[in-house]
Amino acid sequence: MSAVLRPEIHDTPARFDARNLGRLHITPLQAPLGARVSGLDVRERPSAAQVLALKAALRKHHILVFSGQTPDDSQFLDFTRHFGTIFAAPRNAPVLGSDPYGNTPEVVRVSNVDDGLLGNHELPAHADHHWTPQPSAGSLLLALEVPSLGGDTTWRNLALAYDALDDATRREIDDLQLITYNPFLRSRHPLPDGKRPLYRSPDIEALTPWVAHPLVRTHPESGLRALYLDESTEVELVGYDPVAGAALIARLREHLLQERFAYRHQWQVGDIVYWDNQITLHGRTEFDPSERRVLKRISLSGSTPF
Ligand code: OGA
Ligand code: MN
Repeated sequence: MSAVLRPEIHDTPARFDARNLGRLHITPLQAPLGARVSGLDVRERPSAAQVLALKAALRKHHILVFSGQTPDDSQFLDFTRHFGTIFAAPRNAPVLGSDPYGNTPEVVRVSNVDDGLLGNHELPAHADHHWTPQPSAGSLLLALEVPSLGGDTTWRNLALAYDALDDATRREIDDLQLITYNPFLRSRHPLPDGKRPLYRSPDIEALTPWVAHPLVRTHPESGLRALYLDESTEVELVGYDPVAGAALIARLREHLLQERFAYRHQWQVGDIVYWDNQITLHGRTEFDPSERRVLKRISLSGSTPF
């Protein structure tokens, strides 16, 4: 039996109904990045219009803040999969939560209690899985328990940081390649003095495997250019004089850490923040170790940066 398509179906392809947003509202934050999402329960299947609105809002605002959410792990995964497949690191690239065989859990428990990961210390600004060949496109954190003070997470807008550079610096860095060495490998191979270098100097043996990515990354959907560099992971510019390279990276880091590019989030139980790792950094303030902080994170797979 053959199905015969009526010509008018070809002439007017079906589209999602843009009016089918339900109670979904997206409100930009009074900040250099971010929007608040209301009128959506992530436990329920979103409509096509809602998924597309969230995708467009993430492209535009780089982070989305939801509140009052109570998904279990499988509901959290189901919601996340509307935006892509779940990140899995290559076996030879350890990441947060991976086991000794290189397996990565789909849902990573980020907590300072019950053998949780990440403790209570300050976390410098970073993009998740930057040191892997295809770093995570985005991550979502769900807050289950939060301390009364501290443990805030700050996101930084790397497209704004790039745009704010002077022309000469932009020209200087536009075609550079940067190696961001895997900090989990550095933990396994500590230097004799225990220090964590901000920039690899020639006397330090390179950690392997390593991968170089563009220092100025083009966002794969929006085309925005972003300064793809974090706060303090060991890095190295490919084919660049080591002394000049370390100085350039230090200057760029000081630049991108300016408050004018940042939004600081004080967590409430039930918050979900969904961020784009391709165009933002995130870091965390420390908090009192006697307080509990428990979050769950899911990361989406990404593509080779260009
Ligand atoms: C992470 C992370 C920050 C935080 O889970 O990737 O960086 O505030 N967490 O817990
Ligand atoms: Mn992170």
